Amino acid sequence: MKEKKAAAFPQGRILYTEGDSSLNPHYIELYRNACKKYGLRLQFGTYDPNLPATEGLSACRMEDGSQECVPQFVINRTRNERLAECLEQAGICVFNSSFVTKIGNDKAEAYRYMQQRNIPIMPTVYGTRQPPQWYPAVVKSCDGHGGTEVYFVQNKEEWQRWKEQSRQETKRYVIQKAASDFGMDVRVYVVGNKIKAAVLRRSRTDFRSNYCLGGHVRMYRLSAVERELAERVIDGLSIGMAGIDFIFHQGQMVFNELEDVAGARGLYTLTDYDIVDDYVKYITEQMTDIMKKS
Ligand SMILES: Nc1ncnc2c1ncn2[C@@H]1O[C@H](COP(=O)(O)OP(=O)(O)O)[C@@H](O)[C@H]1O
Ligand SMILES: [Mg+2]
Repeated sequence: MKEKKAAAFPQGRILYTEGDSSLNPHYIELYRNACKKYGLRLQFGTYDPNLPATEGLSACRMEDGSQECVPQFVINRTRNERLAECLEQAGICVFNSSFVTKIGNDKAEAYRYMQQRNIPIMPTVYGTRQPPQWYPAVVKSCDGHGGTEVYFVQNKEEWQRWKEQSRQETKRYVIQKAASDFGMDVRVYVVGNKIKAAVLRRSRTDFRSNYCLGGHVRMYRLSAVERELAERVIDGLSIGMAGIDFIFHQGQMVFNELEDVAGARGLYTLTDYDIVDDYVKYITEQMTDIMKKS
């Protein structure tokens, strides 16, 4: 009797890439507690980046060493779109969907997608063969995070210096016109395709407003126009939980990036809203729906 009941609980995995410096035991504990509260079973696992992502769960190590049962859902915090795709093909519900992981971890893909959907972005050139078409410009790697691979280029001389320094680089980059309102952005937190909160991040010392670089945060109230823009970005995507970041050009919000593996430290310091709890609640509802249908 007891065993039958346990089998009805959706089984899940939360996956990180081995050696990921953003792996935070406290954050995983938040997931575990929320899963316990909602009756989900969650196991922690790591993806070995030396193995092909196409091997799916066989390329992952689970905390208790077992691989025996295929989970019903995966919370994918590996940033690996191929792994997500492979798990989806095996019939596993993956949060976020592989497409969200793709545009969340490749700025060129994200800007192309947003351009196709008429979402405003700063004028963008894909690649750094040609010098910027405008100064000041911002040069950023397609797969960077936390502002560490984002460079401000004031003029031709700075561009030549950047080019010289990055001669050996094999990374892909985009060049953008610098937005006029430096050092600030708004992160819109989304759970289950719905806007849940927005924070304004501002730096007093840097053109980059990343929280991990010392940006200050406060809650932000979106105007009706801004909310409508954020909703247009969300529309057509399948977001479990993500941050959508906007910068400001002449006072108008412009899409900057989608953060697939959104950290929520800033949000937890500002409000009682428990985004992990809300996310796990959403996953529970999704899984309950799917299990009812099958
Ligand atoms: N085109 C731009 N104009 C002005 N500031 C920018 C521009 N692009 C990025 N920034 C600033 O740099 C920060 C980091 O850039 P971002 O594209 O978000 O890269 P990362 O993924 O490393 O956070 C942004 O939060 C924003 O404050
Ligand atoms: Mg950013």
